[in-house]
Amino acid sequence: MSDNQSAVLEDGDWIVVSDRRGRENLFQLRAGGKLHVTGGSVECDDLIGCEDGTRVRTKKGDVLLVFRAILADYTTLMPRGAQIITPKDAAMIVQWADIYPGASVVEAGIGSGALTLSLLRAVGEDGRVLAFELREEFANCARKNVLGFSPKLAERLELRLGDVHDELRKLSAVDRIVLDLQDPWLALPGASAALRAGGILLAYLPTIRQVDNFVNAILDTAEFGQPEVIETILRPWIADRVRLRPESRITGHTAFLVRARRMGAPPSRRMRESTLGSSVVVGDVEGEAVGLVETPETADF
Ligand SMILES: C[S@@+](CC[C@H](N)C(=O)[O-])C[C@H]1O[C@@H](n2cnc3c(N)ncnc32)[C@H](O)[C@@H]1O
Repeated sequence: MSDNQSAVLEDGDWIVVSDRRGRENLFQLRAGGKLHVTGGSVECDDLIGCEDGTRVRTKKGDVLLVFRAILADYTTLMPRGAQIITPKDAAMIVQWADIYPGASVVEAGIGSGALTLSLLRAVGEDGRVLAFELREEFANCARKNVLGFSPKLAERLELRLGDVHDELRKLSAVDRIVLDLQDPWLALPGASAALRAGGILLAYLPTIRQVDNFVNAILDTAEFGQPEVIETILRPWIADRVRLRPESRITGHTAFLVRARRMGAPPSRRMRESTLGSSVVVGDVEGEAVGLVETPETADF
């Protein structure tokens, strides 16, 4: 596990081992175990009990840097089922979807669980993440990755197998929805049922064609407003005693982020809803009602 905040490396901790060329490997410390890297091997027992951030020598004499893995290390280096959302976008999603302590968040699909870990941290002890995944092998991979990083964070996660487009329709009072799937426009009817007024829907979309489809679908849906699109470019620099300059190769593109807000009911409609119980007035905003429908059964989330 890696949510251990102690200054000393312990049995079970995930660590990142870097060699002098900057190559990084993720390992889990196991009493009695051995770590194999390009420059040789190191006994786990020689690291357990050392301070976090330690230099060790391999049996061949190469010097290695050892730190406990932070969240960005772990998500980048952990085993993957599906392609992950990288730390630069995960960080922006937490901010741009306004994931706050105590929030109820729906996520789909969970994939490898990389974004999930950032969401779980941001919702805090009183928040919850309900994640949906179509494929069982990805759900298993994500569950293992989240538990492996932190059993404490895993307690805030509920992972269900299923199609989020159908499952959202059964939910209500959700604060935030974050989607990393090909066709988020299909989730709009469900998201409109699930989100509370003012809630945020955010989608991570690799191509501008998907962005175009999604923004148009949002603009066609009265229940959502204020669609916005951003892209995050990160330019890492090399910083050593000789060089202080941008890296020659950077990631040119990962994905666009699109967000929209769930609109609240207009005041006249709110009054009618409160007098009509679970029925909703259809086709009426300020004037005459044209029909009534029963709302589908919803589960509070
Ligand atoms: C790119 S991966 C998600 C990666 C994840 N965000 C991460 O950071 O590890 C997309 C996932 O969405 C799942 N998926 C696609 N359509 C879905 C749907 N309608 N409902 C639930 N999951 C879905 C896929 O099986 C896949 O695992």
